[in-house]
Amino acid sequence: MTFLKQIGRRRFLGVLGGTALMGAVPGAVQSAQRAATASSTFTPDLEIELRAVQDQVPLYQGPSTNVWRYRARVLKGDAQSVSHHPDSPLGPVIRVHRGTRIRIHFINELPQPSVVHWHGLLVPEAADGHPRHAVGPGGRYVYEFEMINRAGTYWFHPHPHGMTGPQVYAGLTGMLIVTDDEERALKLPDGDRDVGLVIQDRSFTRDNQLRYMGQGGGMMGMMGGMMGFLGDRIHVNGRPDFTLAVERKPYRLRLLNGSNSRIYKLAWSDGSPMTVIGTDGGLLAAPVSRSYVTLAPSERVELWVDFSSRAAGEEIGLVSLPFAASSGGGGMMGGGMMGGGSGPAQGSGFPVLKVRVGQGAAVSEKLPEKLASMPALRPEQAHNVNNPRVIRVTASGMRWSLNGRVFEMEGVAPDEIVRMGTTEVWEFINEAGMHMMGAMPHPLHVHGVQFRIIDRRVHPSAMAAWRSVSDGHVDEGWKDTVLVMPGERVRVLMRFESYPGLFLYHCHNLEHEDMGMMRNFLIKV
Ligand code: C2O
Ligand code: CU
Ligand code: CU
Repeated sequence: MTFLKQIGRRRFLGVLGGTALMGAVPGAVQSAQRAATASSTFTPDLEIELRAVQDQVPLYQGPSTNVWRYRARVLKGDAQSVSHHPDSPLGPVIRVHRGTRIRIHFINELPQPSVVHWHGLLVPEAADGHPRHAVGPGGRYVYEFEMINRAGTYWFHPHPHGMTGPQVYAGLTGMLIVTDDEERALKLPDGDRDVGLVIQDRSFTRDNQLRYMGQGGGMMGMMGGMMGFLGDRIHVNGRPDFTLAVERKPYRLRLLNGSNSRIYKLAWSDGSPMTVIGTDGGLLAAPVSRSYVTLAPSERVELWVDFSSRAAGEEIGLVSLPFAASSGGGGMMGGGMMGGGSGPAQGSGFPVLKVRVGQGAAVSEKLPEKLASMPALRPEQAHNVNNPRVIRVTASGMRWSLNGRVFEMEGVAPDEIVRMGTTEVWEFINEAGMHMMGAMPHPLHVHGVQFRIIDRRVHPSAMAAWRSVSDGHVDEGWKDTVLVMPGERVRVLMRFESYPGLFLYHCHNLEHEDMGMMRNFLIKV
């Protein structure tokens, strides 16, 4: 049975589970229905129809690959706001200027429930793509929000409970780019020289069909879930063997790790330093330089790359360098175990893409020394600076969890309520599984906010693995996801000022998220 047929079957489970949960809380059903239609008081500048469809794409020699993908169409406003990747399962790129009022009509043409989450965007609760707002096959949902985010690289993907991993894997991923006036004034590389690159790992059967985890089942399937899916082929923008043709000019490369579980340690093959200008929440205050960049699932980084100094016809590789994914040693899954899927272990090295430099004349441009304004946010502004809200990675049996709890559709514990308008320190602690299962990295993500990283500390016994990725963190910018390595504690600072309501925090290893390593938190007025 192919992967898509297999997950198509799971819809019965999904629908039953969903109905049972929704039935228990009538309010949830009502709010979903209310938000599912366009409101008469909201006047959009941009209106888009976004369909999740079943499709076939020629990816490899031989049969086409069955995929699930997003297709979009502008109904009102700037037709240039949407562009598709040809011959790719990847969703469209949506480009929006800050301040734009957007209405998106989502139509689910999949055989199972789905919902769209706008990763990194600050949107009202009803537009955030919470799993309780998933709509079944043939269902529709209307998202309405004003773009209040800073200029930067964001993305959208499905978020139905228990099925996010397979749906993203099947192809449902798109980049969303926000521009604003401050950024335009910088005159950064634009047009063909502003390139989005979504990096994902996949595995295929011999007849070119996607292969996901659990095929084989049993103990390996379960352990695969604990580790997450790792594919054996790297796709960029949905295509294998990706080559980017560039002119001898500076470029802006927007990298998104759209993989389910794989972490990349990205570097230029010739060892050139990387100039980073942006992170999850947009442009940095000033460019920073790194010898490599660590990119965990859902993280973004923007690079400024000057190809004018390159020889005509030169080829450069973007590679992922080897690193230590666990502190090694004990544990039944310690040190370099394979995940679900057939791919190389987490931390293996491999090529990601090639850049081919054109023959034209070299044109250089200066990168501004100052990029964007970054409002000061100091830990002392937090009411709990001396007593952070702790989010601890935990594990019970063969399941990862947060503070010992797994996801409940409507559940919010008393220690998961924050006040609108307050500033808080959260501390993510990854010390679980050091013995039984072997600790592993977890990319932890929070909805409804962008945060700043205050500091990181690591247990001495986990130092070697931590050191193998830590120089690649870009902690200077706004973040919505932070990689927390085994034995590491990270303190982050966030201000709840956008919208009140029920939002999520979770591990962005999608297999972990699907097994319940996700919780609600409530921003209360
Ligand atoms: Cu991209 Cu809730 O996540
Ligand atoms: Cu998100
Ligand atoms: Cu995790």
